[in-house]
Amino acid sequence: MIEFLKHPVFNIISEIAAIENTQVYVVGGFVRDALLGKPSKDIDIVVIGSGIELAEKINKRIPGQGRLSVFKNFGTAMIKYNDWEIEFVGARKESYRLDSRKPIVENGTLQDDQNRRDFTINAMAISLNPKTYGQFVDPFNGIDDLKNKIIRTPVDPIITFSDDPLRMMRAIRFASQLHFTIVPEALDAIKNQCDRINIVSGERIMDELNKIILGSIPSFGFKLLDQTGLLPIIFPEMAKLKGIEKIEGKGHKDNFYHTLKVLDNISINTNDLWLRWAAILHDIAKPETKRYTESGWTFHGHDALGAKMVPEIFRKMKLPLNQKMKFVQKMVLLHLRPIALAKEVVTDSAVRRLLAEAENDVDDLMVLCEADITSKDDGKVKKYMANFKLVRQKLKEVEEKDAIRNFQPPISGELIIETFKLKPSKVVGEIKQSIKDAILDGKIRNNYEEAFQFMLQEGKRLGLSLPGI
Ligand code: CTP
Repeated sequence: MIEFLKHPVFNIISEIAAIENTQVYVVGGFVRDALLGKPSKDIDIVVIGSGIELAEKINKRIPGQGRLSVFKNFGTAMIKYNDWEIEFVGARKESYRLDSRKPIVENGTLQDDQNRRDFTINAMAISLNPKTYGQFVDPFNGIDDLKNKIIRTPVDPIITFSDDPLRMMRAIRFASQLHFTIVPEALDAIKNQCDRINIVSGERIMDELNKIILGSIPSFGFKLLDQTGLLPIIFPEMAKLKGIEKIEGKGHKDNFYHTLKVLDNISINTNDLWLRWAAILHDIAKPETKRYTESGWTFHGHDALGAKMVPEIFRKMKLPLNQKMKFVQKMVLLHLRPIALAKEVVTDSAVRRLLAEAENDVDDLMVLCEADITSKDDGKVKKYMANFKLVRQKLKEVEEKDAIRNFQPPISGELIIETFKLKPSKVVGEIKQSIKDAILDGKIRNNYEEAFQFMLQEGKRLGLSLPGI
């Protein structure tokens, strides 16, 4: 018997269901993950009858900690028991209309319920009924698909995907997370009806996309999104990165595959979703900034334009418009800076400027820049990595010496106004900026006294009077 079935929670469910003369099964993702050796605490229980009524009865029998929530509209109920979340749902038979994701739902048998599920690996059930406790009910041979690493739909994929187009994203998400292969019929069905993804809400699409991005090799999922035609619909800016243009026999690199390599590279070093998003978006403005010049292809300004494009992409894709977005924007804007540093002799001044702009995100920026090295030439990779090591060391030294991260100029605009008895005006900003530049260029140190003296000099240079001094 599968180990998890020995847990007392399953015995309680089994016992009460037997008393109530109701059949119950564990089903779906929990069974799949248990077989993959990744036991989860989210359990889906299918009840042949009313899920809510059975949950109410079970809840009364669970000692102390059981917490019940009933979702009447969905016909489901959830019990929280210690750190388990057990969801009860009556077996359903569903049929769908073409123009909507809202199914017409009727009560059904276990087989009906399994038929309406998305993939064979998600349609396996295990009996919790006393006489057959632990028995597998796997009408579509999901267990073999799990062993053979295959994503297949229980019924004709055209029907499964048309019933709920989000499943096209889910197929790719599971394939990408688990490194499984989608069977050709299912892949074709996605290609044929990819535009039906338009009836699914942006939030649900994004949930799946983010799960692809958080996988160990996200390029796997993005290549499938591209191959099936979903990518240009859900993320046109990324689809536009694809392709190589040639002029006078000279081509640039394919920025789609480059971006995917950067994303895979960064995924080795971070699980942070937003840093991974920064990798996806770092070159997003390359198609708009592409020019062919005497010295070959250039993408001048793709960093600044890319940063500018981030809010609109986040808004359209239902990503949060908050600090996370600002972080991604900052990474896109600054992603060339450490490379520029690594190419030149690294001066303290350039390092200070980078620290002042990147603030506490400078380490993440370095992780992005290192991931951005995708050259096939091992010699070049080694050289760039060695240079970045130097940049990191220099960043550390300068930061220790000058504490520039989170840089706040030691002289405020108010003090400048007060000292020279000025009205708020352009000259105040100019003095403030020249103090900042003097600190970042190492002319003066980052403290009040030196900055104050420098401000007085600047005032004198600009012919400002010093009332009262
Ligand atoms: N399901 C489905 N069609 C969907 C969503 C879900 O048929 N569009 C079914 C599948 O049987 C799935 C179960 O509902 O296993 C539970 O769905 P969900 O909790 O979203 O996914 P899990 O399979 O549990 O996987 P994960 O936790 O990784 O999202």
